[in-house]
Amino acid sequence: MKLRPFSDHPRGVFVSIDGPSGAGKSTIVRHLEQMLVATGEAVHVTAEPSKGAIGGLCRELTETTKGYALACLYAADRYHHVDEEIRPHLEAGRTVISDRYIPSGLVMQRFDGIDPTFLWQINAAADRPDLAVILEADAEVIAERLHDRGAHNRFQLSPGSSHAEVHFYRQATERLIQAGFDVLRVDCNQRAPEQVARVIRDRLTSFFAQPASTS
Ligand SMILES: Nc1ncnc2c1ncn2[C@@H]1O[C@H](COP(=O)(O)OP(=O)(O)OP(=O)(O)O)[C@@H](O)[C@H]1O
Ligand SMILES: [Mg+2]
Repeated sequence: MKLRPFSDHPRGVFVSIDGPSGAGKSTIVRHLEQMLVATGEAVHVTAEPSKGAIGGLCRELTETTKGYALACLYAADRYHHVDEEIRPHLEAGRTVISDRYIPSGLVMQRFDGIDPTFLWQINAAADRPDLAVILEADAEVIAERLHDRGAHNRFQLSPGSSHAEVHFYRQATERLIQAGFDVLRVDCNQRAPEQVARVIRDRLTSFFAQPASTS
């Protein structure tokens, strides 16, 4: 177990992985988990929408619900996810990796025309990850990967969705950095998923090595 900054008791490290659909989040999370487990870390992998009751509603309603209602539902799931799953695992000393978190909440409902400031506000009280990883790739690259893999939801179907998503992610990333989030941007255009996972692992290793604060 590690002592984290801003905490006087041992807790794990919370890492979120976001980025446009097809950037490789789920693939990279799997590699990262394997790498950390191999070095003896206790790891808990999770994803949003969560496996909880509100996450189930998100999955059920994403295709048929829009705008403010869906944005608030996803934010509600995020708070529930933190309370019921993320915090307990962190408090047990595990590294928690979440496949999507606040950054996705700042991006996905932009497709339905929701104002970014509203999205920021409804996510403002969610626990900050210790490290927010943003996977970056050109729209053409992720559009091709999505074409090969197949779409997971309505946001991935419209022509030009990858261009719009890359643009929304750039804006969200700027906002996170301005707000003081610890953000790691990783270029995934040329790197294989294992290489991307290694970049994140290396960043986490130095993070674990930071001197702890007990204030
Ligand atoms: N760095 C990479 N280089 C080449 N192909 C990749 C890379 N990362 C992922 N892929 C491939 O791209 C596809 C999409 O990856 P993945 O499903 O992990 O993306 P995702 O970001 O989780 O997408 P979604 O937001 O839809 O869940 C998969 O077929 C995966 O094998
Ligand atoms: Mg995925």
